[in-house]
Amino acid sequence: MKFEKLIQKMTNEEKASLLSGGDVWNTREVKRLGIPSISMADGPTGIRKQAVSSDHLGLHPSIPSTCFPTAATIANSWDVELAEELGEHLGEEAASLGVDVVLGPGLNIKRSPLCGRNFEYFSEDPYLSGKLAASYCKGLNTAGVTGCVKHFVANEQELRRMSNDSVVDRRALREIYLTGFEIAVKEGKPLSLMTAYNKVNGTYANENKFLLQDILRDEWGFNGFVVSDWGGGNDHVAGVIAGSHLEMPGTKYNSPLEIIKGLEEGRIDESVLDQRVDELLTAVLTIHKRKRVRGSQSPTNQDKTGKGITLEQELKLSKESASNQEFELSQEQFDIKKHHSFAIKAARESVVMLKNEEQILPISSHRKVAIIGAFAKKPRFQGSGSSQVNPTRIDNTLEQVTDYNFNFIGYAPGFDLVTHSKGSLSKIKEAKALAKKADVVLLYLGLEEVRETEGLDRDCMELSKSQVRLLETLHTVNPNIVVVLSCGSPIEMPWIDRCKGLLHGYLGGQGGARAILDILVGKANPSGKLAETYPMSLEDTPCYNYYPGLEKTAPYLESIYVGYRYYDKVNIPVGFPFGYGLSYTTFSYSNIKVDQEKVQFTLKNTGDVAGAEVAQLYIGKGVSELYRSKKELKGFKKVFLQPGEEQQVTIPFDDYTFRYFSVDENKFKVESGTYQVYIGTNVADVRLTAWIDILGDNISSELTQDFIPSYFNGQVNNVSKEEFEIILGRPLPESKWDRNAPLGINDTLSQGFYCKGFIGQFIYKKLLTKRKQALSGERADINLLVVFEMPFRSFAKLTGGRVDMHMARGILAIFNGHTFAGASHVKLSFMKMKIGNFIFKLRLKYPHGISKHKRSK
Ligand code: BGC
Repeated sequence: MKFEKLIQKMTNEEKASLLSGGDVWNTREVKRLGIPSISMADGPTGIRKQAVSSDHLGLHPSIPSTCFPTAATIANSWDVELAEELGEHLGEEAASLGVDVVLGPGLNIKRSPLCGRNFEYFSEDPYLSGKLAASYCKGLNTAGVTGCVKHFVANEQELRRMSNDSVVDRRALREIYLTGFEIAVKEGKPLSLMTAYNKVNGTYANENKFLLQDILRDEWGFNGFVVSDWGGGNDHVAGVIAGSHLEMPGTKYNSPLEIIKGLEEGRIDESVLDQRVDELLTAVLTIHKRKRVRGSQSPTNQDKTGKGITLEQELKLSKESASNQEFELSQEQFDIKKHHSFAIKAARESVVMLKNEEQILPISSHRKVAIIGAFAKKPRFQGSGSSQVNPTRIDNTLEQVTDYNFNFIGYAPGFDLVTHSKGSLSKIKEAKALAKKADVVLLYLGLEEVRETEGLDRDCMELSKSQVRLLETLHTVNPNIVVVLSCGSPIEMPWIDRCKGLLHGYLGGQGGARAILDILVGKANPSGKLAETYPMSLEDTPCYNYYPGLEKTAPYLESIYVGYRYYDKVNIPVGFPFGYGLSYTTFSYSNIKVDQEKVQFTLKNTGDVAGAEVAQLYIGKGVSELYRSKKELKGFKKVFLQPGEEQQVTIPFDDYTFRYFSVDENKFKVESGTYQVYIGTNVADVRLTAWIDILGDNISSELTQDFIPSYFNGQVNNVSKEEFEIILGRPLPESKWDRNAPLGINDTLSQGFYCKGFIGQFIYKKLLTKRKQALSGERADINLLVVFEMPFRSFAKLTGGRVDMHMARGILAIFNGHTFAGASHVKLSFMKMKIGNFIFKLRLKYPHGISKHKRSK
């Protein structure tokens, strides 16, 4: 252990106190020993630092900070340098607000287009997700803070996210769901990682030793700290034993008391507690050292650079500064204007042009342009929930358009921003009249805020009827329509032939409106490419029959066939393939060369304007002993070229290029044989192919086609339970709630409809009504959505220490119909909690006992 001597000086109360938060955002300190506290805040769309009241769902306003494009948007840039620069900007803002750990990036895989948080995640592909997440982390490191990659792992649905069990087979878990985290951890070196709320194969992610110790620490060499998602703690002792370091948010001393009880009962060994404290201190002191270096950049702290000192020396310095308050942080404000310009740039690089019939774009200045659609005035630029930022400013199209050389003839909203509204006839009429007078209609469509939010998955992939109706009406009077889309996840587009141009800005952050205008007028050339497939319809998605898991489990029956890996394998036509995006110029590919280390080819800009192309490397193995996707993304490069310019592009192979996960041997291996090396402009448009022989391992022992035909032919959208059980290696766990059994501590309030107690039934019905009301407005009441799906243990884990686990059990008893016994249990436990907290506080204050303390005075 690194800090053995220090840990020997600590009491068990002090150790236990470090393993849960001091409040909603900060860790605890131990002043007498110089152990500092560190501060966290959400990201990574921007920094959500709350000034006064704290909550973790974006309910209370936060200090203004730049709202950058969301991760789903940045992913379309396929630009690792841009992502790193974004990380630096974020880090700079975090540092200026005294935030040490930015809670992001999130890199869960887009298993279904319906996941409510897809706008926060990068891609359906783990390689792209991992590379971009690593870049964010590198940028944050450069700025002297750290990222916290989340949510580890298999957290792909919002429905009952705090209680359900993701059932994932080992190959899919390793090759799809863990690989992105592996890349992010190994290359981005974040000092923190957040566990997911859900269970993974039967065990809560935050209590999963296989994930936290065996894979994360032992295999990947992670040396940061593991934090629970907010309120994601369940059995704190089990979490600490498994390798989790910090339970958030704070619960006063209730969580530390659970550790003390665990020690007393022999559930956790003191050596395990010491180990966790040691690991936590290593990360906290490294983070604190960075803070000191940042602080040294302020004029008052010139002499305390902290560079080149050991963590032990850092501890000493921290102790000195704790006692004489010398150390000050640089609180200089970041350059708001510069950061806004970067937000525009980041959005611009990420815009995807999906259609440009008759070269309707860019729009020439003499054409009369009508702007229609409520999003032109009230832009959708970020999603809802914990990532929601209070922007320093928000550009909107109507205000910005005057800066451009546009023949702008007028605006009409066309629809209301309320989901499921059929549309207002008068608004449609007004828009139609305007469209008649225009040469080109710019029609701003998108998903309403309530349809992209933490805590709620979408129930369909359609645009609101009112918007589609508007488009169809406008098309009857003017065929020159350019749709500008704002949404953070795929939608169905049965209406696509009603527009000639289609620009997708995703959720472009506070500068998104300008980024789109730059492209509309040709000031910039679009270079974004989709980081996810746009299926024709929801029914076409590989997990359509399994998503979301409704009750106890979320079984991932489609296994490795996520996104393009499925559509490409079974030749299902899609709206837009993975990696798709148009440009105002054209590119040619030629001259492919491949050796054991790399692939090289020539890329040429064959058009009239400068532009950037994202060249994509896919690997396939036509003849294989394994079930495999046809192609897998294994590299990419964004290259900017002047008209006529050409460049030799090299994409190196790496540890991920040829590997697969061997279930038999429980490790990654490489199958010997010939591989196809594809260079494409998207997954469905391969421009160059080469072959390479790779000498790898013998894999004769893996599962063969006879037992699992669906996985070999890729027809996985309706796999039998029996077939899945073969690749899962165990029987599928029960998925249905037992409606006859009493509710348990990890059951949710939404299960209240079958609880036995009348009080429980009453509360359930009230919540249900409120939930319905909440969903009909312009903005979702996330708090309510979250409460409805909250397990009973959250009474203890999300109430800032007002309730402990014993009291939560009393509340549960009331729901289960033991009204009086439950109520008296709550009352008694409350008293016990208060006394327990009081004594714990005393013990922390007087680590050597009150009498000894008095004597030493
Ligand atoms: C979210 C996390 C977030 C945390 C703190 C949770 O609800 O799942 O992504 O970092 O809150 O706000």
